[in-house]
Amino acid sequence: MKKVVVVGSINMDLVTMCQRVPKAGETIFGDRFFQVPGGKGANQGVAMGKLGTKVTMLGKVGEDSFGNDLINSMKNSGVNTDYIERSKNSTGIAKIIVEANGQNRILVVSGANMDVDKEYIDRHIDVIKDADIVVTQLELPLPTVEYVLGKAKEFDKLTILNPAPAEPLNEKIIRSSDIIIPNETELSFITRMPTDTDEEIKAACEKLLDIGVKELIVTLGSKGSLHINREKSQFHSAYMVKAIDTTAAGDSFIGGFVKALNKNNIDEAIEFGTKVSAIAVTRIGAQSSIPTLKEVNEFQGVKRS
Ligand code: RIB
Repeated sequence: MKKVVVVGSINMDLVTMCQRVPKAGETIFGDRFFQVPGGKGANQGVAMGKLGTKVTMLGKVGEDSFGNDLINSMKNSGVNTDYIERSKNSTGIAKIIVEANGQNRILVVSGANMDVDKEYIDRHIDVIKDADIVVTQLELPLPTVEYVLGKAKEFDKLTILNPAPAEPLNEKIIRSSDIIIPNETELSFITRMPTDTDEEIKAACEKLLDIGVKELIVTLGSKGSLHINREKSQFHSAYMVKAIDTTAAGDSFIGGFVKALNKNNIDEAIEFGTKVSAIAVTRIGAQSSIPTLKEVNEFQGVKRS
């Protein structure tokens, strides 16, 4: 079985559900509050673990109860947490507001995630050497992301970058990523090009392909996703579902994609990831919304035309 390592963020999500977000200076009542394990890296790791992938998480939490809960959530989902370290800084948190239409707004305080440095990666470099696929995002310090991707390529691993939240990226990061999975906004940000139409998205992807990326998968929310490489551009439509909470929609897509990924079956893997995220958006929370393999296999969704 292929081995995956996710090098990424681990956050406790503090979620408020409400009809609408308050305006500046306004106080309104929310409907519900809860805390739930999250963090883009951990969510992707948990999705892979729940779906039966052999996955190890590299990252840091604080010496606090959020850290304990987050490690337990990952362990219970089948993620190897042996190399997660405790930092003096508190565990990362994300304040999330979800409106009645399922859309969210997220404010992250990184805490321990910002202590994931090159020295930490070097201490656990054997985990990267031992993996087949290395997955990372941008909720860690950028020099660490660059280092991880560079090392992974040095060891000839397949590298997957989810450039979220969007940050300007240097060419080395882009060149070291075999597959980049942004949404349209992130694609626009990292290429500094407009991405409002299919043609603009393709042009922005061309720019990344010219730098050395092999495959781009641009997620388009409720519309679906676009897979672009040198040979082709293929649209994958999404399922028609009633979204309650879109938090971790992208993370569950990536978890499903990696679970189903074998050599040269990118479009099949996208279809599987699309199903996983279709289920996730119908449930509340980040890791709490991610389905098991059985649930995905039993899913009977109808695609948008
Ligand atoms: O992608 C969703 C995640 O982004 C949330 O779980 C939150 O922790 C932020 O990292």
